Amino acid sequence: MTIRRIAVVGAGTMGHGIAHASAAAGYGTVMFDVSPAALEKGRRAVEEVVRSGVERGKVAAADAELTLGRLQATSDLARAVANADFIIEAAPERIDTKIALFADIERLAPASAVVASNTSALSLTEMAATLRDSSRVAGMHFFNPVHKMKLIEVVQALETSPATLAAVREVAARMGKETVLVRESPGFITTRVNASIGNEAFYMLMEGVASARDIDKALKLGLNHPMGPFEMVDLVGLDTRLSILEYLHRALGEKYRPCPLLVQYVKAGRLGRKVGRGVYDYE
Ligand SMILES: NC(=O)c1ccc[n+]([C@@H]2O[C@H](COP(=O)([O-])OP(=O)(O)OC[C@H]3O[C@@H](n4cnc5c(N)ncnc54)[C@H](O)[C@@H]3O)[C@@H](O)[C@H]2O)c1
Repeated sequence: MTIRRIAVVGAGTMGHGIAHASAAAGYGTVMFDVSPAALEKGRRAVEEVVRSGVERGKVAAADAELTLGRLQATSDLARAVANADFIIEAAPERIDTKIALFADIERLAPASAVVASNTSALSLTEMAATLRDSSRVAGMHFFNPVHKMKLIEVVQALETSPATLAAVREVAARMGKETVLVRESPGFITTRVNASIGNEAFYMLMEGVASARDIDKALKLGLNHPMGPFEMVDLVGLDTRLSILEYLHRALGEKYRPCPLLVQYVKAGRLGRKVGRGVYDYE
C-alpha cells in the first residue's frame, strides 16, 4: 500500500505536532478539529515551529514552504478523511469520544485506510472492535513536543495485521522517528513506567523522605533523568497524571493506587504549570 495522504483528527497539543511531522515527511496532510479555534491555534503553532526551525538553521526556507504548503486544516471530517490513506486520531483521551470518531471514520474514509490512535493508555483493541475490519487499527503513541521527541510507541492490538504494523512503521520512519513495538497493555511502556515513578515520588514526598527539589535533583543527577518527576508532573498536569493512575489502578491493580498526596494536590487545584501552580509555584 502506498501512503500519500494522512489525516490527523484533533489539532490540539499533539494533533498539530503530528500534522507538522506528517507534512514535513512529505505527506499531503489534513488536520481536522471540531473547534475552529483549535484548528487556527494548531495551524499557528505549526507555523511558529517551522519558522523557528528556519531561524535556527535546522530547516531550509524552501523545505519550510513545502511543509506548510502540504498542510491543510478543516472542520469538516468528511473532507479530512475522504481521500486519506492513513488516519491518526489525536482527540481527547476519552474512550467514548474515540469510539464515536472511529464510527465516523469508518463511514467517511476509504475502507483500506489505516486507522492509528495516539492514545496514551486506552485500549486499541476496544476501539478496533467497533470497526468491521479491526485489523487496520494500531496505536501510534507520539510524545510531546512531537518535533523534538524521537520515539513512537507502536501498539499492536489483538487483531492488528502485519500490513498495518508495516504501514505504521513506514510512516514513523519517514517522520524520522524511532519505534518500539508494544503488545497492547494498559499504559504501554512509557506511560506505565512514568506513572509509577511519579507516584513513588509523591509517596516519598508525603512520607517526608526528602523535599520535592531534592527528589528531582536526585533523579536528574544520580539517575540521569532529563527532568525530575515533579518537574515532569507539573508539565503533564497533575489531573492528567491522576486519571492515568486511576486507570492503571483499575486495570493492573493495587501497586498503581494514586498517592493520597497527589489526589489532595488535584483537589486543591494545583494542576501544574498550566494553572501556574502544581508541586512548584510558577507565579
Ligand atoms: N499531551 C500529551 O503530552 C500527550 C502525549 C501523548 C499522547 N497524548 C494523547 O493524545 C491525545 C490528544 O491529547 P492532547 O494533549 O493533544 O489533547 P488536547 O486537549 O490538547 O487536544 C485535543 C483536541 O481534540 C479536539 N477535539 C475534541 N473532540 C473532538 C472530536 N470529536 N473530534 C476531533 N477533535 C476533537 C479538541 O478541540 C482539541 O483541540 C489524547 O489521546 C492523549 O492521551 C497526549
